[in-house]
Amino acid sequence: MNILLLGSGAREHAMAWKINESKHAARIFIAPGNAGTASLCTNLPINLTDFDALKQACIAHDIQMVIPGPEEPLVRGVYDYFINDPALRHIPVIGPSAAGAELEGSKDFAKAFMMRHGIPTAAYRTFRSDTIADAFAFLQTLQPPYVLKADGLAAGKGVIIVDSLDDAQRELRDMLNGRFGKASNKVVIEEYLRGIECSVFILTDGANFVTLPVAKDYKRVGEGDTGANTGGMGAVSPVPFADKEFMRKTHERILLPTVRGLRAEGIPYKGFIFVGLMNVGGEPYVVEYNCRMGDPETQVVFSRIQNDIVDLFNAVASETLNEQAIVEDERAAVTVVLASGGYPARYEANLNIEGLDCIFPDNTIIFHAATRLSNSQILTSGGRVLSVSARGDSISEALELAYQAAERIRFKDMYYRRDIGFDL
Ligand code: AMP
Ligand code: GLY
Repeated sequence: MNILLLGSGAREHAMAWKINESKHAARIFIAPGNAGTASLCTNLPINLTDFDALKQACIAHDIQMVIPGPEEPLVRGVYDYFINDPALRHIPVIGPSAAGAELEGSKDFAKAFMMRHGIPTAAYRTFRSDTIADAFAFLQTLQPPYVLKADGLAAGKGVIIVDSLDDAQRELRDMLNGRFGKASNKVVIEEYLRGIECSVFILTDGANFVTLPVAKDYKRVGEGDTGANTGGMGAVSPVPFADKEFMRKTHERILLPTVRGLRAEGIPYKGFIFVGLMNVGGEPYVVEYNCRMGDPETQVVFSRIQNDIVDLFNAVASETLNEQAIVEDERAAVTVVLASGGYPARYEANLNIEGLDCIFPDNTIIFHAATRLSNSQILTSGGRVLSVSARGDSISEALELAYQAAERIRFKDMYYRRDIGFDL
């Protein structure tokens, strides 16, 4: 089988690594990929929202399956583009229709969907600039801290949490005045949930679903979960507090009604659903949905799936996921993100990376994120540069391996958190 992956991060490198282990995969292509994916795949210099160029690539390389990594092509309708084109219809896209991707593309849509299907989430209301007076009144009924969310995609920066009512009112006015462009034409204001978060992933064929290993990511840039929000600075799997009972509640109250709700509403969804959950005193609440896998969670989740991943994707395409069961590796997996100094604000790029040619132990893998090749030297090309991943008999053993590997890699001003897993 020839498979085309879309994306260029460590998530997509981890996907390529897992697909490469499959008995089905003949060739893996990736658009656009990075210096790490180039060792497993053919990198294609195509923008992943240029659907016409993707079509040409699919025809030229006889592609039989497309797997989008990030949300953008999904929200823009790559699934629908393929299904509606007679020349592409036979190629399954592992992801939702644009309508399904609204679970991530619109917070207001996701909240209303959860209300319709009785799925536990924070109480909320949605406002526009013409209802700002109502929004101020609603804020007064809430206890601090105040949670404000831009409705649309805002590159992971659209959620603002502030302690004072004054700040909340000022932030709200800013957002409705276009702080995130069109994405904040509508703002969701919601109740603050107190608890600890985890990331639950399912793969669905639209009727059936399988639950993947649970992960926890570390979103703040600083140790002890302090400082600015990032795309994610590290992840671990399994998650001790997501025990059998918590997962049973999650399955019954959240995962089943989500898949059934999409089906009942006639929304085509054949792909991953990422449910960001808050554990509030043992009870699961949805913080957000994403229409894709997480980054850096994929680097640990895929490391703990023993199934042939392409068998699972084929079952999604043929709507036979009921015949599949996930086999979890008992070992723990962790990943530590090596970032450019200054990230998520300003940072330098095009820096030489040293140490990637070390011989790392078998249980350690370095997934590339923002890297590029220049005259056979690997350079940094963004904020999150590498994702150093390891497996071990326990989370602490895996962390020790990952940190040993991280110490062998160098680039100017390299930064990473040394406390991944500290709260478990
Ligand atoms: P989101 O993009 O919706 O995942 O929000 C980003 C982060 O903000 C989440 O990972 C949470 O840490 C935090 N957050 C979002 N909504 C809430 C909430 N209702 N209560 C507490 N924290 C929240
Ligand atoms: N790690 C969070 C995300 O992928 O959105």
